[in-house]
Amino acid sequence: MSSSTGQSVPTSHEAGQSFPPSRDFADQANAGAELYTRADADRLEFWAEQARALDWDTDFTDVLDWSNAPFAKWFVGGKLNVAVNCVDRHVAAGNGDRVAIHWVGEPGDHRDITYSQLLGDVSRAANYFDSIGLRPGDRVAIYMPMVPEAIVTMLACARLGLTHSVVFAGFSSTALRSRVDDAEAKLVVTTDGQYRRGKPAPLKANVDEALGTGDDAAVSVQTVLVVRRTNHDPELNWVSGRDVWWDDTVAEASDHHEPDAFDSEQPLFLLYTSGTTGKPKGILHTSGGYLTQVRYTFHNVFDHKEGRDVFWCGADIGWVTGHSYLVYGPLSNGATEVVYEGTPNSPNEHRHFEIIERYGVSIYYIAPTLIRTFMKWGREIPDAHDLSSLRLLGSVGEPINPEAWRWYREVIGHDSCPIVDTWWQTETGAIMISPLPGVTDAKPGSAMRPLPGISATIVDDDAAPVAAGEQGYLVLDKPWPSMLRGIWGDDQRFIDTYWSRFADQGWYFAGDGARYDDDHALWVLGRIDDVMNVSGHRISTSEVESALVNHHSVAEAAVIGAADATTGQGIVAFVILRGGVEDTGDTLIAELRDQVAKDISPIAKPREVLVVPELPKTRSGKIMRRLLKDVAEGRELGDTSTLVDPTVFEEIRLRGN
Ligand code: WTA
Repeated sequence: MSSSTGQSVPTSHEAGQSFPPSRDFADQANAGAELYTRADADRLEFWAEQARALDWDTDFTDVLDWSNAPFAKWFVGGKLNVAVNCVDRHVAAGNGDRVAIHWVGEPGDHRDITYSQLLGDVSRAANYFDSIGLRPGDRVAIYMPMVPEAIVTMLACARLGLTHSVVFAGFSSTALRSRVDDAEAKLVVTTDGQYRRGKPAPLKANVDEALGTGDDAAVSVQTVLVVRRTNHDPELNWVSGRDVWWDDTVAEASDHHEPDAFDSEQPLFLLYTSGTTGKPKGILHTSGGYLTQVRYTFHNVFDHKEGRDVFWCGADIGWVTGHSYLVYGPLSNGATEVVYEGTPNSPNEHRHFEIIERYGVSIYYIAPTLIRTFMKWGREIPDAHDLSSLRLLGSVGEPINPEAWRWYREVIGHDSCPIVDTWWQTETGAIMISPLPGVTDAKPGSAMRPLPGISATIVDDDAAPVAAGEQGYLVLDKPWPSMLRGIWGDDQRFIDTYWSRFADQGWYFAGDGARYDDDHALWVLGRIDDVMNVSGHRISTSEVESALVNHHSVAEAAVIGAADATTGQGIVAFVILRGGVEDTGDTLIAELRDQVAKDISPIAKPREVLVVPELPKTRSGKIMRRLLKDVAEGRELGDTSTLVDPTVFEEIRLRGN
């Protein structure tokens, strides 16, 4: 088994270096060591306690029903309203004037939204959604940049028991259409345009293209609700009877809305993510268990202090990190948070540090790829700002290399902030493996240990525990509250994808390889399946391959993720042209890269495309990606003895180098 990240296994020196929590931090931390003890003593009772930190309209009768595994039910019989837990209850507790969201737009415009204002906004949207006939269980697609209305829409869906499906606004119209169709969304919420690196670009136009017209129209969609953001698209298309402005509808609705309570297992959202096969899968999350675990992890992992901390998660709402730690985790805890619309270098590389300074951000949560980008820009940029408000740093999305970890702590965290390296997935819904900042020692590059209440282990092919230093499969061997409840419309795929590798044991296999060091600290080494991780974004090799063969010139394509100093992995594609097609060099390569951007998203554009005469295949016809990785990363070739034609590499090397 080999790691697909190409990340090197830590040396014993690295594995040995530990940063224990400071006495000062430990003394004030929300979570102490007794949290582990309590959870170990009675796991289900522990989760019941965590669930009771939420407001329930009807108490649950059972903590977990696992009788139909792997289809779980958590907090059986309980009823709650997710939006009430995120908004109303803070207003009711007298904190209506507290800022929920310090919103910063990419052009520099900004808005502060208090919990009372948020309640009014969410109520208006809920009233409008109700008025157009949306009923609990209906699906709503959200295709929006990071504007407050996106969060308001998510919460309004939650308030009504609707299921939202956020589609990253960087995705193509093709990707949007397949997600709208799969979920049979009735409503699509979007904006007229979005800012991209300082310039307005149309967005609703993508929706129009996605939804089609006439025979090709997306049949499920009844309404397209449009928020005015850029006010810039001179050719804005309007389909009468389908398209409405937010300003004419939601903004005019009543700001009072009486919420209903929903079953703990009411579907809350779908989030499509890449798997090992081409078709993205709609990961289903429900209400009570999900909210319990995001609330719990936000409080304990980030050590959040209500009314004092200012939290900032740099993720986009299009990804799970944006769902759990930009919407449901912070808001269920009554947090004050920053939401930033744009890229970190708009208008220049100081943007993030200016925001930290301006709002006094105390907890900052970003991906390693951004840390490495900051390193490239140079420390004089953060050094030009007062970052003393920061007291805790988080990392998510990919393995963090020890060098980036140390830089993050020293330069951003003034050598004193604890760092929580949080491992989790779209499927797990919330953080699973991470230090507790006041309890657990931290080692640069290690996610350390499962959180209290979570059980994870590393095993070999035969499900036996691995010895320290050996790489194995990371598995979750007990159900957890925020676990995915399925893949939308495809129960069998759910079972096959996650529960078949260790079916006898009934364990969830995460797709990651990992190892323990001598202190039993856990090191996640990255995906061992055909999923790439580019700047913390999951992209499957086969998705990119099918986009490439969609181009008329391409007969066959093989895609791998090659180690990349900034993005973690970079996409390298090897393509064979169809007979008679002329290789036009750069023109063709540019066309192929555009094809991928169009079919999937610009984030999936290959870093390199190599036209080759042949692909290395085993006698059974399987493409040997491992060898292509060797080529792309400039290594000596591994074992080529199982290849049909070992000489193909001479040609590939000649072309590639
Ligand atoms: C990777 C993002 C190492 C991992 C929350 C996982 C990580 C995939 C870490 C899920 C981490 C996430 N250390 N690897 N701290 N966090 N990963 O679904 O390979 O976008 O399987 O969820 O990201 O990506 P996803």
